[in-house]
Amino acid sequence: MIPKDRAVTSTPTLQVRLRAITFEADTIIHLEFVNMASGQPLPAFSAGAHIDLHLPTPNGLLVRSYSLLNDPRETHRYCIGVNRDAQSRGGSRHVHDVLRVGQVLAISPPRNHFPLDENAPFNVFIAGGIGITPMLAMIARSQALGIPWRLHYAARTHQHAGFLTTLAAYHGQPGADVALYFDHEPCGQMLDLERVVGSLPDGAHVYCCGPLPMLQAYERATTALPTARVHREYFAAKDAAATEGGFTVELARSRKTLVVPPGKTILDCLIDIQVEPPFSCREGVCGTCEVRVLEGTPDHRDLVLSDAEHAINDRMMVCCSGAKSPKLVLDI
Ligand code: FES
Repeated sequence: MIPKDRAVTSTPTLQVRLRAITFEADTIIHLEFVNMASGQPLPAFSAGAHIDLHLPTPNGLLVRSYSLLNDPRETHRYCIGVNRDAQSRGGSRHVHDVLRVGQVLAISPPRNHFPLDENAPFNVFIAGGIGITPMLAMIARSQALGIPWRLHYAARTHQHAGFLTTLAAYHGQPGADVALYFDHEPCGQMLDLERVVGSLPDGAHVYCCGPLPMLQAYERATTALPTARVHREYFAAKDAAATEGGFTVELARSRKTLVVPPGKTILDCLIDIQVEPPFSCREGVCGTCEVRVLEGTPDHRDLVLSDAEHAINDRMMVCCSGAKSPKLVLDI
């Protein structure tokens, strides 16, 4: 049996060295990676991008996605923040317990499913917990572009909130505004998403990243806004993967056909015949397993593509999505 966390990847990887680990908050560390080829720049990235860390463990290779948090103008390093997740399937625990300064790691080049609209007149960022990480890169980019911004950042307490020093450096800068919410502190304030969304400046774009209840509340609060101005990134699935089965998948490049039975995802079946694409989260949130659809109608269950992108039906996440048509033809 293939371990659940095994991931195989055929995409190119980069070798980076872990240059520094810094304590950020109770369960959060900050990691800085530099190019193995000393002095060479790393591939450029845009605000909202993430990298996949390839973590060799005794139980197989774990691939885990983390948002880049540093200023996208920097080409000498990639920085991420990792929360030690109590529900960890092994990734964040491995990062906290095993990784040490000086180690060399394989990572994916940066990919971005949560891009910043650089033409917005105003940006509002809403972050819960470790969801602050993509916002830090977006804030740096907004600042560089001269786009005014406001951050609403919620955590249980000051001790649970990372990157407060980074945020404090923006204090007093033109166009910058930070509001903090610590609902587990005496006299702490709750973040009121309805109020935040109800008082957006004209034309503002709004971005949210945080735990599932926050994102669900955000989606309810933003239903009346034009979708082009509403952006979000999930950490975890909100719907179950499609495992109803009962359809056929033709693999155009491999010239194979498989029948997906009830109880399995397309990715499970691809792993069985060893034609798996790269994959990581297996929950439809990272975008690693995206495959082109040549024919048929997917039953999209991912949280990576937008509704408009789903409607085009030219690509799908095979870890969680199924089929509405009897047959899919995939570019694998
Ligand atoms: S593996 Fe992450 S979206 Fe499919």
